[in-house]
Amino acid sequence: MRIGVLTAGGDCPGLNAVIRSVVHRAVVDRDDEVIGFEDGFKGLLEGRYRPLDLNSVSGILTRGGTILGSARLERDRLRDACDNSEELMARLGIDALVPIGGEGTLTAATMLSDAGLPVVGVPKTIDNDISATDRTFGFDTAVGVATEAMDRLKTTAESHQRVMVVEVMGRHAGWIALEAGMAGGAHGICLPEKPFAVDELCKMIEERFSRGKKFAVVCVAEGARPAEGSMEYGKGNIDQYGHERFVGIGNRLATELEHRIGTEARPVILGHVQRGGTPTAYDRVLATRFGWHAVEAAHRGDFGMMTALRGTDIVMTPLADATRELKTVPQDRMDETEAVF
Ligand code: F6P
Repeated sequence: MRIGVLTAGGDCPGLNAVIRSVVHRAVVDRDDEVIGFEDGFKGLLEGRYRPLDLNSVSGILTRGGTILGSARLERDRLRDACDNSEELMARLGIDALVPIGGEGTLTAATMLSDAGLPVVGVPKTIDNDISATDRTFGFDTAVGVATEAMDRLKTTAESHQRVMVVEVMGRHAGWIALEAGMAGGAHGICLPEKPFAVDELCKMIEERFSRGKKFAVVCVAEGARPAEGSMEYGKGNIDQYGHERFVGIGNRLATELEHRIGTEARPVILGHVQRGGTPTAYDRVLATRFGWHAVEAAHRGDFGMMTALRGTDIVMTPLADATRELKTVPQDRMDETEAVF
């Protein structure tokens, strides 16, 4: 069997672990041939690929990023290619395609699958917001990075008697903010799922200070927004994908808190630091299991499906499920900590 692999969309720790696992299972155990398309669907459409053997994936398990490169999707080009899917298949000369990616990539994978291509998807995102799987790899690493940042920020916050506002990734789902906030002992957590009350946040910080505690940490997801009228804020910007982005919530909240409480506040925007570097052991294992199961699914002819984690098992689920709805933080998870505002 000839298997094509690609990584598309925003990168995430663990992508290389999947690529390595696909090659190990396919080449060593199944006697397959594996090729890697460069720069996501771009490489697929332009016929840019390289053969992947044991040597080309040696040493990449621990490496962040993706050895294949990644690019955002050009939807129109892909749609055109789907209109000529037979020609595309003949040109690619593969028996299975394994695209590894988030919501956008899996939507594209569904398009290709609907057009008749033999696709087995592998979900990834640090945001953990794909509903068809209990977890995505990359999330554990991102939570670890954000947690460590908060641990470090607490000591400097205490020295200077400051409020630290830590902005983490998560445009539409606040999983990173919730779990890093809990693990890092943030005093306030603000999520995209629930407009936060600035008054309540101020009250909590003032109450801490009145107890003799001279610092506070607030963990805010980049997509969090204040309750209407609770803070002076501008309209969000519409990004290239049509999503409203409240760019700079960390900065705006730090300014607001400093102004209201009369204590120095500092914003810390963690940004892409959360996506870089070596994956945690958990993410390496999940990514490796996904790669193994993707190859097995290809051999069974389980196309139009993607790997998913259910409990502790890896199962196959229809690709279309991945993009049906975003997995956001439910109320009962928010209720497990008093720090969510
Ligand atoms: O992978 C998802 C994500 O990490 C979001 O949380 C974030 O808003 C976005 O990617 C930023 O990605 P980029 O800057 O690469 O477009």
